[in-house]
Amino acid sequence: MLKTNVAVLVSGGGTNLQALMDAERDGRIQSGTIKLVISSQPGAYALTRAENAGVRTAVVHKATLGSQEAFEAEILRLLSEHQIELIVLAGFMSILSADFTSRFPNRILNVHPSLIPAFCGKGYYGLKVHEEALKKGVKVTGATVHFVNEIPDGGEILLQKAVEVQDGDTPEILQRRVMEQAEWLLLPQATEMTAKKIAMKKE
Ligand code: GAR
Repeated sequence: MLKTNVAVLVSGGGTNLQALMDAERDGRIQSGTIKLVISSQPGAYALTRAENAGVRTAVVHKATLGSQEAFEAEILRLLSEHQIELIVLAGFMSILSADFTSRFPNRILNVHPSLIPAFCGKGYYGLKVHEEALKKGVKVTGATVHFVNEIPDGGEILLQKAVEVQDGDTPEILQRRVMEQAEWLLLPQATEMTAKKIAMKKE
């Protein structure tokens, strides 16, 4: 079976990218191949992780390019150059326009660190999500992998996993538990599921 070409879009530390590359290396992702990592931040540690794994990297910096349109045009150019068929947002902190997302229906995955529809949408990203969960006093949180459409965190849900909140949690401690117990498992799983569907259509 021909593998699906995958691009991973990142902005920060890249632990979810690492989970994806590890899953490809040990065969939990076998229907897709990570061809390209695009970072919206020049110094992101995710870029080092990709280089260490021998994956091609690119930086697309909105402030340097000057507009959302130019930013998305550059991402589109890279995706087409590398014949990318599946886009995985793994800690990508930029919102993509409807013009962009409508070009890839059911071809963009995102991992979000809560049980959607809780603590999601515009303004809810990274540590902020866990801060809000702790403020609210929820006893259970988790992670969600969903398809991306024009509504921030609003696309079809593929996988979710619950994680317990514990007494004394800080946002950092809770973030780490949600990553370890949910995100790093769900994102590779959803990527394999989706890459497999795309690969089967190519047969
Ligand atoms: C992850 O917790 C991811 O779910 C979250 O940012 C973190 C990135 O960590 N994404 C969002 O909040 C998107 N709305 P990483 O760079 O180590 O993968």
